[in-house]
Amino acid sequence: MSEVLIDPQAQFLTLNTAGKSARFHAVWLRDNAWDEDTRAPGNGQRLIALRDIPAGTQIGAASVDATHLEVRFEPEGKTVRFDLNWLMENSYDHPVPTQRGWLGPRIQPWHSDLMGDVPVGDFAELSKRGVALRDWLGKVTKYGFGKVVNGPVEDGALFKVAGLFGFVRETNYGRHFEVRTEVNPTNLAFTGLGLQAHTDNPYRDPVPSLQVLYCLESSAAGGENMVVDGFAAALRLRDENENYFNVLADHCARFEYAGEEDVCLTSRRPMIELAPDGELVGVRFNNRSLAAVTDVPFDKMADYYAAYRRLGEIIDDEAMEVTFRLNPGEGFIVDNTRVLHARKGYSGEGTRWLQGCYSDKDGLRSTYDAMIRSAQKEAAE
Ligand code: FE2
Repeated sequence: MSEVLIDPQAQFLTLNTAGKSARFHAVWLRDNAWDEDTRAPGNGQRLIALRDIPAGTQIGAASVDATHLEVRFEPEGKTVRFDLNWLMENSYDHPVPTQRGWLGPRIQPWHSDLMGDVPVGDFAELSKRGVALRDWLGKVTKYGFGKVVNGPVEDGALFKVAGLFGFVRETNYGRHFEVRTEVNPTNLAFTGLGLQAHTDNPYRDPVPSLQVLYCLESSAAGGENMVVDGFAAALRLRDENENYFNVLADHCARFEYAGEEDVCLTSRRPMIELAPDGELVGVRFNNRSLAAVTDVPFDKMADYYAAYRRLGEIIDDEAMEVTFRLNPGEGFIVDNTRVLHARKGYSGEGTRWLQGCYSDKDGLRSTYDAMIRSAQKEAAE
């Protein structure tokens, strides 16, 4: 049995339904009305602007039945019905997180213990665009990376991987880039170098939010790929030393790349990025492209560098990393706003040929959410 109470000033109502209670403001309800004068019946786009709703909107009357809340708004005299499930799913009457660095419900931070549970998708299965793809995209959303195996060993195969969920982001490096390494005993010291884990292209604004790396040849020993969850690293820094976390979150670093004649890419963003309410939304970490940091006050710069150093040590800690080898026809994607990647050093001789490209998370999220929505619709029918 549901009930609704209107506050004495008629500014908000309190809805009690299914054992839960939530308050909703009159202006919020009016703005979120789903009648066909407010929302386009086909695509759900809002047909009115806030200026079309009187500033003094109040609740004139409200009643509730088993499935709907009915509200009359004054001074418009307009009556609108709201689905109770929709209202409770979109309720905003709950405590807000107070600790900086909180994560959304879909995100799960990880350490090296994820090694036994790396999200792996079989290329042929994923290409059917059914449950296997949906589950794999779900894990990529949760962990920020995933592997693809048994794919074609052909030039450009990585575009087929990107096409499973979205679109390639072309940059000044082209639609894709080549990572070819010849490893032999005379130049091992040079080509065998590992790289520190990093996010790619922090000097872009916005950064490419996904990267695909795909293996076409791999006869050299070593050269494994390694990934580190930047969110887990940032949270470990916070738990060790909140001051370090805050100084990296509260000040912008600068990043740049100007290594080609006609390219001068710069950005000004923090290494640890928080939403205004403290949600952890991004990590940028790349020693090669960090420019002079000029936006940290003098009396905080020593702390800033100590924090940057400690974050690097955490990222380098083997307890944080998941390592895997890519064989021809295998690739992986990373959320480049969260998960850092690196290549380990080589120990033998041979060749290694990878192709990489960038893409963006909006496409992946859209594909995944649309698949979830259609599965829910099917289940409801
Ligand atoms: Fe990279």
